Amino acid sequence: MTCQVCLSTLKAGDLFCSSCGAAAPDHAAGLPRAPAVEARGRIAGERKYLTVLCADLQRSTDLISDLDPEEAITRLEPALVAMRTAVRRNRGIVSKEGGDGLIALFGAPHADDNHAVMACHAAVELVRRIKLLNDPALLVRVGLHSGYVVTHTIEADLSSIYEAGGPAVHLVKRFESAAQAGQILVSESCQSLSAGLVTFNSLPPRRMEGFPAPVPCYELIEISGLSRWRARSTKGLSSFVGRAEETALLDRVAQEAGRSSGQAVAMVGTAGVGKSRVAHEVVEGLRQKDWQVLEAECNPLDQTVPYSLLKKLLQAVLRSANLSPDEALSSHDASSDAGLWPTALRSVLDQPIVDPRWNALEPLLRRRVIMDAARALIGRVTSTRPTVLLLEDLHWIDSQSEAAVEALMPLVPARKIRQAGCPSSMCAGFGYARSIWTRPTHCSTACLERKRDWQG
Ligand SMILES: Nc1ncnc2c1ncn2[C@@H]1O[C@H](COP(=O)(O)OP(=O)(O)O)[C@@H](O)[C@H]1O
Ligand SMILES: [Mg+2]
Repeated sequence: MTCQVCLSTLKAGDLFCSSCGAAAPDHAAGLPRAPAVEARGRIAGERKYLTVLCADLQRSTDLISDLDPEEAITRLEPALVAMRTAVRRNRGIVSKEGGDGLIALFGAPHADDNHAVMACHAAVELVRRIKLLNDPALLVRVGLHSGYVVTHTIEADLSSIYEAGGPAVHLVKRFESAAQAGQILVSESCQSLSAGLVTFNSLPPRRMEGFPAPVPCYELIEISGLSRWRARSTKGLSSFVGRAEETALLDRVAQEAGRSSGQAVAMVGTAGVGKSRVAHEVVEGLRQKDWQVLEAECNPLDQTVPYSLLKKLLQAVLRSANLSPDEALSSHDASSDAGLWPTALRSVLDQPIVDPRWNALEPLLRRRVIMDAARALIGRVTSTRPTVLLLEDLHWIDSQSEAAVEALMPLVPARKIRQAGCPSSMCAGFGYARSIWTRPTHCSTACLERKRDWQG
């Protein structure tokens, strides 16, 4: 008997080859096999609905035809680094790389409802990163398409590739080759999944090789900046039904906040159960009664971006008060920590920093000044009007903003937001509850359960 891998001779009764360690043929037949492993090292496919991104450098062969292989790789590598970074920062995975482009998947191997939006963000970042390389010869074209594919892992000799197959992958390549330099061309399915959160230009349908009818095309213009809720509600909402108990709780809490002390409410429930809907119904009612509404929402793409929620909250606060960071927190004592508050706000808002003391501060001190500045600003703005603070999708909060929101909690029952003449605030956290929302005595929790009124 011989080993099927290295062809060494095996002795009778050997379970493994003494030269290469491979299982002896009879023994291998009896070994349990992973159910998904098929012949030739392929892992059985999984059918998935996801978004595929295809990016390619235009006329890259012209750029490298006269170069040595090493020089050619070096010439194109910065563009490939930019592409990979954009994909990975937006939760995609690179499935395949050519020397001058790549194919990336969003929504695999782990399913994610946001796959189309993530792919749009990645495409915009990819084009921006290549522009930042400041190399006029590097011109990129991008195609995006959402559709069913079969994903599988292919074990090659030296690596394994997680690949998607099916017409969707062919179509995305057609979109990429139909794009002009710097353009992102998007299919109708990807456009309809991300419309509202992303802005598109509708283009005339195009004939594409291998597809019998002209294919509808969209050009990605920009990320819209609308919140997920606003983007969804602009498409139209069904009429609001049920949820009397939760609405009554929020109304009661608002009355209490208006009468005596600030309150916090956490709304907890599985995705799609109706947390945002109840929150917005109540908050719109308060807006009609002249409450100031400050809204900010967490985003799955920004979960690792420090202070991303706090940034949106500060923007909402400054917009509502119509103030700049310097006007909002000007201090007479520029030498104290309070003198650094406007700079702290600027740092969270990604605005230029002019005060040299800021860069000299220890990170922990910086963090403390940021928390103090945020608390001072929100305390100030909420002291003049009844205010509701609506924080959505807290399950995606970044850790620095979580600490900042925790630092804001003492404001809720404090005098600052219920000063004479202006009784004041309901501070509401909507989303999955975290410890911060359930701890304070002034915090109520509404646990939403699935109802049958509008959900089948
Ligand atoms: N009480 C309700 N009456 C009618 N439609 C509702 C109600 N609650 C939720 N919906 C609808 O169900 C969908 C999901 O609700 P949403 O509030 O976004 O869920 P969540 O925030 O819990 O993920 C939305 O389209 C919303 O308009
Ligand atoms: Mg929601």
